[in-house]
Amino acid sequence: MSKACFCSSSVGRKVFMAITGAFLVIFMLLHMSLNLFVIGGAESYNAMCHFMGLPFIKYGLQPVLALGFIVHIIYGLYLAVKNSAARPVNYKNANYGAASSWASRYMWLTGLVVLGGIALHMVNFWVKIQITGLPEGVADDYTLVVNLFKNDLYTILYIVWFVILGVHLAHGFWSMFQSSGQAYVKWLPCLQKLALLYCAVITLGFTFVALWCRFIA
Ligand code: HEM
Repeated sequence: MSKACFCSSSVGRKVFMAITGAFLVIFMLLHMSLNLFVIGGAESYNAMCHFMGLPFIKYGLQPVLALGFIVHIIYGLYLAVKNSAARPVNYKNANYGAASSWASRYMWLTGLVVLGGIALHMVNFWVKIQITGLPEGVADDYTLVVNLFKNDLYTILYIVWFVILGVHLAHGFWSMFQSSGQAYVKWLPCLQKLALLYCAVITLGFTFVALWCRFIA
């Protein structure tokens, strides 16, 4: 099979989505774990941010993970639109099982909410830390993060975002395993449990950080 054929074949597309998806999975686990440094207070959180600002992470690891993250989302959206257009009408209107129906029918909507949340998040933190500089009166990254969550509206918005992110990820894993064919049948129940555990850890971990900032920091 030529390179071009492999990339555009259904196996090639799955391999590509799986590799870029792995970047996303690693990025989120890392990002959530690093944000838990907020528990240690300003010194600990700022030290973590300083470490993340070291050139080999800032210009090496982070852009690679973030790029995989973005490519995965954009390519995933492209495939979803393409597959939906190619599906027969009856299949589109099919009565899905109750549990999977909501999440699968609204993957595009939860995906858009996840993307919108990322855009808001970039404006809240990344732009201020990396581009414009911290606003006046904000001493450090820790204060920027904690101040945001002292605002109830942001805490609620972010927690809704984390929950929708969890639902979206869980269904993403579910459909990835479904379309992996017979190869993993033996491992499927175990993989599905692991995936659910991962989604719960991500949603609860980020929610914990937001609530910690709101009520304890
Ligand atoms: C309590 C929750 C979160 C906190 C406190 C938080 C905090 C931060 C901070 C402070 C930055 C700027 C880092 C820097 O430029 O040095 C950042 C960047 C970023 N965050 Fe978050 N984040 C949270 C949740 C999330 C979630 C749920 C996602 C993805 C769905 C996410 C995706 C990103 C991305 C893509 C970047 C830019 C790349 C980077 O600088 O690492 N974050 N976040």
